Amino acid sequence: MKLIMLGAPGAGKGTQAAELKDKLSIPAISTGAIIRNAIKNGTQVGIEAKAYIDNGQLVPDDTMIRLLGERLSMPDCVNGFILDGFPRTIAQAVALDEMVVDLDYVISLEVDDDVIVERLSGRRECPKCASTYHVTNNPSAKGDKCEKCGEPLVTRADDTPETILKRLAVYHEQTEPLIDYYKKSGKLVSVEGTSDVHSTTVEMFRAIGLEIA
Ligand code: AP5
Ligand code: MG
Repeated sequence: MKLIMLGAPGAGKGTQAAELKDKLSIPAISTGAIIRNAIKNGTQVGIEAKAYIDNGQLVPDDTMIRLLGERLSMPDCVNGFILDGFPRTIAQAVALDEMVVDLDYVISLEVDDDVIVERLSGRRECPKCASTYHVTNNPSAKGDKCEKCGEPLVTRADDTPETILKRLAVYHEQTEPLIDYYKKSGKLVSVEGTSDVHSTTVEMFRAIGLEIA
């Protein structure tokens, strides 16, 4: 399957992409994680992207389209993929249409802004394997360490109250128009993302015709 996860910052794209990845055995590709790795590794892309990500702004389209094209050409994408965080602008969606002709579904996770702020304020992330937790909604079984790899969990640099609000504003202005874009192409599936993680997974699987384990 070739899937896109669409949704506001903190809507649960990464959390639900991980469920789909386990179910379908295809890679979940987070463009945010690609950028954060580039920053960590001090690459030219990372150096250029840091100011954008730290300010809650989008990295320029040409950079993101090139990075995604490189990632999609890797052999693990041959049986499909889940895109988490791409496309984020109409220009990126148009570029994706040129790269990939047979998208199956665009899953739009619907969550209100007030829930988003609470979720991102309590998010903790594993800097090693990128597993995502929440201090109360979705805690790690190992406390402040990752339950999968034991690494101490961190708060993402862009999860400050000020940057969260900027990211939400950018989402409404630049990314939300994609809902209409994909509605027109008949690929859009809307999933209520406000209930707990498992219930959301169940609804999402049902919406795209997958059996729940
Ligand atoms: P990115 O990393 O994609 O961040 P984002 O879109 O802001 O989304 P998040 O990762 O914050 O949220 P999520 O929807 O994955 O939620 P999660 O599952 O973690 O991008 C970061 C930056 O990179 C951008 O701002 C931009 O600068 C740049 N960038 C990336 N892609 C780009 C592109 N294509 N073009 C240009 N720039 C780009 O869940 C959030 C929290 O809620 C967690 O704590 C989780 O445990 C909890 N939670 C999840 N689901 C539930 C639930 N159902 N109930 C309760 N809690 C839940
Ligand atoms: Mg994410």
